[in-house]
Amino acid sequence: LRNGLAATPPMGWNSWNQVGCAGLNEQVVRDAADNLVRTGMRDAGYRYVVVDDCWQALTRGADGALRPNPDRFPHGMAALADYVHARGLLFGIYAVPGTGTCAMYNSGYPAKGIGSLGHERQDAETFASWGVDYLKYDWCYADTYDGLDEKTAFEKMRDELQRTGRPILYAISEYGAQKPWEWARPVANMWRTTNDLSADWSSVSATIEQQADVTTGSPGGWNDPDMLQIGNGSLTESEARAHFSMWSILNAPLFTGTAPTDQDLGTLLNREVIAVDQDFAGAQGKRLAVDGSTDVWGKPLSGGGYAVVLLNRGDSPATVSADVPGHWAVRDLWQHANTGTSDGTLRAQVPARGAVMLRLTPR
Ligand code: GLA
Repeated sequence: LRNGLAATPPMGWNSWNQVGCAGLNEQVVRDAADNLVRTGMRDAGYRYVVVDDCWQALTRGADGALRPNPDRFPHGMAALADYVHARGLLFGIYAVPGTGTCAMYNSGYPAKGIGSLGHERQDAETFASWGVDYLKYDWCYADTYDGLDEKTAFEKMRDELQRTGRPILYAISEYGAQKPWEWARPVANMWRTTNDLSADWSSVSATIEQQADVTTGSPGGWNDPDMLQIGNGSLTESEARAHFSMWSILNAPLFTGTAPTDQDLGTLLNREVIAVDQDFAGAQGKRLAVDGSTDVWGKPLSGGGYAVVLLNRGDSPATVSADVPGHWAVRDLWQHANTGTSDGTLRAQVPARGAVMLRLTPR
């Protein structure tokens, strides 16, 4: 979408993977904003603080406007946006095109009627008046229950956001069902390509597999294989690094949903990997080879370089080789070390459920 936003893949924090529905409140969001500043994540590029589902009161007000749940957000959304903005961050919120939000159907938040159907203009204006900079516009059965068509419904809110005059990054989600990479470029700044990512290796691995069929994103419109699960569930450090390496070579938006430990920060603040995510030289990463449980993914970089991920999905270490025609200086982005040169072949020992990420520079 050409609205001047998302020139590079957006980065930030989103409440969902950290607290879900039940744990959401304004203190959690303020703490997340403070964490981004304190840990250096803001300065590494994580700028958006996004409040996901379950922020809403269960009904609209007498004027038809959406309202925050008064128990969870007693000071209201404009005050929370101010808090976020005062820390040099941007503020995001969640809505849906149908009648009920995902949590209403999935996690017992009985809030029917707070979807934006029939209230698109009013909701866009409400968000703009609160100082919202990012809208996650989810789907959740809007076809089944409300008879909506994805593209038409997403275009409607796009137009209403634009009409407010406020720059609002527009993230849509229908879980990749209608192949949005084929039609969403003029509609949104990012679109989900898959179902929800859960915090375990089999979900990460399956989601990576699905990206092999997705055509490239580009500035203003990025493929979104869902938010990061680093720091959550059963993911080990090796798995988390493979997850982060792959999201970066795919030019994916990087949204954390965790209160990060030092180990998590060692992954999330790898600026060399983030630089690959934020670099776009004409194509996102694509799969170059598969051999059993190992993959090779590659992506051109600005300046004639190349990023490579040697991925091992399997349960034992593996030697992975890749053909990369040319003469290269090789840098390992997790070891933060120059590891030699290559004249056409790369070979590395890759840990079980892990990745080696390399940056190749012409020489
Ligand atoms: C869907 C989305 C999630 C989250 C929840 C909220 O499952 O894919 O990212 O927004 O809804 O209910």
